[in-house]
Amino acid sequence: MRIDILTILPGLFESPLNQSIIKRAQQKGVVGIHLHDIRDYSRNRQKQVDDYPFGGGAGMVMCVEPIDLLISKLKSEREYDEIVFLTPDGEQFTQKTANLLATKTNIILLCGHYKGVDQRVRDYLITREVSIGDYVLSGGELAAVVVTDCLVRLIPGAISDETSALTDSFQDGLLAPPTYTRPAQYKGWKVPDVLLSGNQKWIDDWRHNQSFERTRLLRPDLLED
Ligand code: 6GU
Repeated sequence: MRIDILTILPGLFESPLNQSIIKRAQQKGVVGIHLHDIRDYSRNRQKQVDDYPFGGGAGMVMCVEPIDLLISKLKSEREYDEIVFLTPDGEQFTQKTANLLATKTNIILLCGHYKGVDQRVRDYLITREVSIGDYVLSGGELAAVVVTDCLVRLIPGAISDETSALTDSFQDGLLAPPTYTRPAQYKGWKVPDVLLSGNQKWIDDWRHNQSFERTRLLRPDLLED
């Protein structure tokens, strides 16, 4: 899979994309993540990428031209399955969206900023609009990190224990059960006996029951459908 990230703040991605699973996935070649600075595609002297809104009002609007030049260049090099615009008014990003996007070969993540982008970007250049939740971030960058992390861990080969992505909370529609590791007793805080029983059937049943009860208590909405 190849992910191209279009941003005016490429520096924001440096640490998050170069740690842990995402770093190793890139080293193994299961994903290529390419950062592009939209400012490099500005054609004016001050490298400006935003301008005042037509009709007046507060805030600046990201211009269509630099984004179009960059997307056109990328599209001339390969075919893209999705061009995703990260925006608080997009469709809610869920595990379902992640599972779908993780099957794609080439995707673009476009990070918006300021008061927004020129509507023509949204009308003519992108294929999907995604929000990571009902709150406003300063820009789409942190959302792009969230989406990238979520996708990369689903790509076969990104996680060494291939089953672990499938036992995540949400992947089976339930929250994950509690987990414990050594020591079995700490300050008198005990690990449930069943986990030390050695009986895998009991353990599996206990875990499923815990998943279900946790979900019923904390996220009953997940059990509705
Ligand atoms: Cl994708 N962008 C911004 N700026 N804010 C957000 C968001 C995205 N998702 C939730 N809040």
